[in-house]
Amino acid sequence: MNAVIYWSNTGESLKVAKYIAEKSGYELCELMTLKEKNFDDIFLVFPIHYQSVPTTIEPVLKSLKFHKAVVVLTYGKMSHGDVLNETQKILQGTVVGGSYIPCKHTYLLNDISFNEFEKLDDIVSMVNRDTEAIFVRQKRNPFAKVLPNTRHRLSVKIYKNDKCINCGECGKVCSHINNGVVDKQCIRCLKCVISCPHEALNFELSPLLEDYLKKQKKCEIEMF
Ligand SMILES: Cc1cc2nc3c(=O)[nH]c(=O)nc-3n(C[C@H](O)[C@H](O)[C@H](O)COP(=O)(O)O)c2cc1C
Repeated sequence: MNAVIYWSNTGESLKVAKYIAEKSGYELCELMTLKEKNFDDIFLVFPIHYQSVPTTIEPVLKSLKFHKAVVVLTYGKMSHGDVLNETQKILQGTVVGGSYIPCKHTYLLNDISFNEFEKLDDIVSMVNRDTEAIFVRQKRNPFAKVLPNTRHRLSVKIYKNDKCINCGECGKVCSHINNGVVDKQCIRCLKCVISCPHEALNFELSPLLEDYLKKQKKCEIEMF
């Protein structure tokens, strides 16, 4: 079976994955709820966290079996690190191509959402390649992955407002929140904030993170 396999928290990677699925005719599948782990050709679409592969999805990526893969990574125009090479090492199959897609940053409410869909057509045709891709080595900040849990807690606060009626909907989209209260494993992906049907969840950034995000760059899609 051919598939476009995605993981997405605020919808940016999902939009990219949907377009690729439509163009390629491959089935759209969500990574964490996959029933089948054996595939022919796949597109793998997910966001970069801390210039790295998100730790939440690493074990599932390792368990995938496929013939050929094209890896499509979304990021928030800060830095994408060397995640194509990192992903290629994790995956058990031939990676024939890859791309970095600048998207809306999760933590910037007024950032522009990805809309350059026609530029994705060249990525769709990458799946016709036959040889293992060689990705240019990219720099990653050596501190990018240091103490992620502490950094999540210090830099992003998720809190509930008085619209919360304890309906439990947030707990259905993520196991790390219960009626608006997050646990220590919460990675601040904001899926709960986006999904709350009562707009009862808000988030707040630390001044340090707010300052850092002002350095967001103007980036183009990169394809390898
Ligand atoms: C915990 C976390 C860490 C992130 N780290 C980075 C990063 O290192 N560089 C970057 O440019 N964007 C970073 N982002 C932004 C996301 O990669 C970007 O907004 C992505 O397109 C979100 O995709 P999604 O909506 O499919 O979840 C981070 C977002 C989160 C939640």
